[in-house]
Amino acid sequence: MRTLKSTLPELNPPLRTLMGPGPSAIHPRVLEALAKPTVGHLDPSYLELMDRTQDLLRQLFRTDNAMTMAISATGSAGMETCVVNLIEPGDPMVVCVNGVFGGRMADVAERAGAEVTRIEKPWGEVFEPGDLESVLATAKPKVVGIVMAETSTGAAQAIEPISQLVHDAGALLVVDAVTSLGGMPVEVDAWNIDAIYSGTQKCLSCPPGLSPVSLSQRAMEVVLNRKTKVQSWYLDTTMLANYWGSDRVYHHTAPINMTYALYESLRLIFEEGLESCFERHRLNHLALRDGLAAIGIEFAVREEAHRLPMLNAVKIPTGVEDAPLRRALLDRFGIEIGSGLGPFAGQVWRIGLMGHASRSSNVLLLLSALEQLLIEAGLAIEAGSSVAAANAVYVAHGK
Ligand SMILES: Cc1ncc(COP(=O)(O)O)c(C=O)c1O
Repeated sequence: MRTLKSTLPELNPPLRTLMGPGPSAIHPRVLEALAKPTVGHLDPSYLELMDRTQDLLRQLFRTDNAMTMAISATGSAGMETCVVNLIEPGDPMVVCVNGVFGGRMADVAERAGAEVTRIEKPWGEVFEPGDLESVLATAKPKVVGIVMAETSTGAAQAIEPISQLVHDAGALLVVDAVTSLGGMPVEVDAWNIDAIYSGTQKCLSCPPGLSPVSLSQRAMEVVLNRKTKVQSWYLDTTMLANYWGSDRVYHHTAPINMTYALYESLRLIFEEGLESCFERHRLNHLALRDGLAAIGIEFAVREEAHRLPMLNAVKIPTGVEDAPLRRALLDRFGIEIGSGLGPFAGQVWRIGLMGHASRSSNVLLLLSALEQLLIEAGLAIEAGSSVAAANAVYVAHGK
């Protein structure tokens, strides 16, 4: 057996400005929370923290749902939780697919044994109620799944009109709020959402690792009346309810310090105020939009009303090479932005302004770095124009 050297390299990750599709910037107070002393997962202090975290999650999701908790895994596990608890083999499910994550939900549903019908829309577009009507009538789904903030395209899906239609058809609605939660209004009760999931690494300014989830009473009745066991032991909400509920029965060893981080991030959001937090995301998006427009960069989502404030998918200017430019942003300026996925690969950059990363200093830094690199790539751009345009937005809003 090889003997390890005593001089193993120190862990020394570079300091990055994370402006991609996630993970996003971690707030310093959240990093501090992670380093607090670990207690047992049934320690009275931890159980109290779980209660407080659940309560704040309910306030963030805007719901009274008892079954609101954080799954001990990333957003994809939240997706699996909602799907595998509601779906039994053979159940019909309709999934709206206009990007990577709708496609992932359809895959998850198929693996859970659902008879899946996909409704497809081109990337960058959103679903209108009319797109679903005939499919709901023919497929008669038990569950309909839709992504609110499609991180692969930057498109913002309106949930309320779709929810009405889904419930008129007698189905349950599952919503992906991985990228939207904490950056724009998510109204679980008012929009009548039956199951919803998110992730900590986007607008919650936390590291990846937990997935906030909420299921309505109606959804939980469906779970409790299943004929078959939930296919996943780990994600079975009936067992998780015994740990997150008043019984406090051991289920799995909770990631204690990640709960500290989530709690601190929720405290930060409510200290700022939900409305102010959403307004900050919106303002930074507008400043970035005007800054990019000044140097001729367009959004991939044509309709302004359908653009997400926290994920800006923009077209790569003609003549500019995708990977070398992103690499130069990283190497010379320490800024990470995201590449395009699927049909958007090589066509689109994804600029995240999520949570703690949604700041004017980030917008101005990225614009000045991008402008410099595009000038070096030979584009006819007036130096300083993007920063001036973004600053004009801040000034107009008194910021
Ligand atoms: C909309 C959406 N859904 C689901 C996921 C999956 O989350 P995770 O990568 O945390 O498992 C992501 C991740 O980027 C996402 O953006």
